[in-house]
Amino acid sequence: MSLARRSFLVALATTFPLAALAAGAHDSVGCSGCHSIHTAKGEIIFAVPQNKTMLNPKTKQPYTGTTALCLGCHADSKEGGQGYAPVNGHMSHPFGLASVNPKIAKVPPELLREGGRFECLGCHDPHPSNPYYKYLRVDTAKGSKMDAFCAVCHPIKADVATAKESAVLFTSMDETGDRVLKAPAPAPAAAPKAPAKKK
Ligand code: HEC
Ligand code: HEC
Ligand code: HEC
Ligand code: HEC
Repeated sequence: MSLARRSFLVALATTFPLAALAAGAHDSVGCSGCHSIHTAKGEIIFAVPQNKTMLNPKTKQPYTGTTALCLGCHADSKEGGQGYAPVNGHMSHPFGLASVNPKIAKVPPELLREGGRFECLGCHDPHPSNPYYKYLRVDTAKGSKMDAFCAVCHPIKADVATAKESAVLFTSMDETGDRVLKAPAPAPAAAPKAPAKKK
């Protein structure tokens, strides 16, 4: 274990004792690291306060909903977070959008939140049951098949073979269902269109 990593864990242990119990990502955070059954701070009884410091470049306002809760931990302390694997600085992909421009992305509806919002949860399912690399919704073979992940929402940008594969999406949100959903097969993006039938 590197020195930096070790002192990070020590810092975790002091500022956030729950996280010190085990080594791996959200396993160490535990259910109660994100959910508090005593105080209702967010829409899904969250244990950490929402990030009110980091501003959404689209709205010039703080982020809302679950994105603000993720950012309560995953932003630098200057940006209102706890400094755990901060996303500010190196995350250039949009998130925290009230709606999605359908010309830019075709997001499967089950990955959007109330009213069509696109949150961190569009790409990640953060529950400890998610076995995939970086809690992504799709198996990217430990990050080596990232194109298949991008193709879930940008099928027309992907090469034909990748776009034709229908990805299996991970979800932990339905206790009556399975952990995986079969995404609707993306439209065969680059395939030539059949000529329109004459009416
Ligand atoms: C990293 C933070 C995080 C951890 C750790 C976590 N959760 Fe969650 N949980 C969330 C978020 C975010 C949502 C909302 C997810 C969504 O809207 O898709 C949620 C939603 C839920 C829901 C609500 C489902 C619904 O239908 O509304 C339950 C129940 C739940 N979590 C239980 C658990 C349990 C049990 C654990 C521990 C095994 C756990 N969570 C660990 C972040 C977390
Ligand atoms: C209570 C604090 C906390 C909250 C809230 C939280 N996380 Fe985390 N998360 C952590 C910690 C701690 C780690 C491990 C960091 C490390 O090892 O560098 C982590 C790691 C991760 C990782 C990397 C996993 C890996 O395998 O390397 C992802 C992805 C992630 N979190 C996404 C999210 C998302 C999305 C949300 C909001 C739904 C969220 N987290 C909310 C504390 C949190
Ligand atoms: C467009 C999809 C997408 C969105 C939206 C997204 N992420 Fe990620 N995230 C990724 C991908 C892909 C990776 C893995 C990058 C890699 O390691 O190659 C990642 C990695 C991470 C990591 C691990 C970073 C590390 O150092 O290992 C964390 C933590 C994380 N995301 C949290 C978040 C949070 C919090 C949000 C919302 C504020 C968010 N993500 C929104 C796709 C996304
Ligand atoms: C779960 C859906 C989803 C996934 C997966 C996804 N994106 Fe996106 N992407 C979006 C959304 C939503 C937008 C913003 C649409 C809008 O502006 O309304 C977007 C926008 C973009 C943009 C335009 C950015 C800008 O500033 O306008 C690029 C470039 C992009 N994505 C690249 C990628 C790449 C590369 C990957 C894979 C690593 C990826 N996306 C994975 C949903 C996704």
